[in-house]
Amino acid sequence: MSEPRLPTERGQSGAVLTTSSPKTVDSSQAPDFQHVTVLRDAVTQAVVTAAAGRETALVVDCTLGGGGHAEAILQAVPHAHVLGLDRDLSAIAAASARLAAFGPRFRAVHTPFGQLATVLRDLQIADATAIVADLGVSSHQFDTAERGFSLRHDGPLDMRMDTSTGLTLAERLATVTVEDLADVLYEYGDIRRSIGTARIVLQSVQEGADTTAKLAQRLSARLVRDRNVHPATLVFQALRIWVNSELDELEALLRDAPGLLQEGGALAVISFHSGEDRMVKQMMRAAAPKKYGAFMRGKPQAAGDEEVQDNPRARSARLRVLWRKREDAPMDVADEDED
Ligand SMILES: C[S@@+](CC[C@H](N)C(=O)[O-])C[C@H]1O[C@@H](n2cnc3c(N)ncnc32)[C@H](O)[C@@H]1O
Repeated sequence: MSEPRLPTERGQSGAVLTTSSPKTVDSSQAPDFQHVTVLRDAVTQAVVTAAAGRETALVVDCTLGGGGHAEAILQAVPHAHVLGLDRDLSAIAAASARLAAFGPRFRAVHTPFGQLATVLRDLQIADATAIVADLGVSSHQFDTAERGFSLRHDGPLDMRMDTSTGLTLAERLATVTVEDLADVLYEYGDIRRSIGTARIVLQSVQEGADTTAKLAQRLSARLVRDRNVHPATLVFQALRIWVNSELDELEALLRDAPGLLQEGGALAVISFHSGEDRMVKQMMRAAAPKKYGAFMRGKPQAAGDEEVQDNPRARSARLRVLWRKREDAPMDVADEDED
């Protein structure tokens, strides 16, 4: 395996690579980043298994966030290098500060993970021992009002994970048609009365709902609750997935990652809602259709009661692991039969 190397300039992916060296990342600029890592031990265990018996291991953390999984991996696997990706510069800064003590064993790249294959090619990395993704937004993004993700913390209608590029939610809502917005709400929020709901969203904005709290209030007043989750929550979820092209990103990752794994390597993905989990399950099923193929699927894992009690966000988390089999040795992992 070749180690991650610093490119001399931006590669084809347009990704920007930083190191955890104090020369390039000023720790004092790192935000106070609050995020409790979900399924930390289960993800780490998958990486430990994939890295066992190797001289060096390269792990790609596609969703660096606050660096919680990356830190656990660097601690548990002393021969591992971690390449951390995130499209959010505040996550890159926070994780780089947190992981500075690991020196050259950690590198960060500012990029969407849909660019994984191009980023690895730019860095002349042929393949990875493990590829990890913990999908969605971090608590830090959610709780920072000015990022515009939250119904409760009042902020602008933004919702971009990468604030350096792309259209904000307000800009998108200014030009989208009712029909296209209805598709977004139906596909990404599972909202059945999608045309009516899309009209209410657009009317609310036209009538002056120009912040998240104002939009949430109008939606709460006008939408009917037909399931346990309030419809405004589902609308916000759908809008966020739309603004960040989250399912296109996930599709690109799931398409490319299996082909980038070393023999015995693992792709570990944590999803938080049914649409994501369905995609992950289907892709892993397609890659590992039968027992004797090149890949096999691990059993899906959920957080235990204790973790959910400490961190309610963990309640909906599902971890699925796809293993690339070793030619020479049986692998000591639980294989999934059915789910
Ligand atoms: C749930 S947090 C990860 C938390 C991290 N595992 C930890 O323990 O601290 C998800 C992170 O993934 C990033 N992210 C989400 N989608 C992304 C994408 N398509 N490309 C790159 N980063 C993405 C978000 O910006 C966020 O920082």
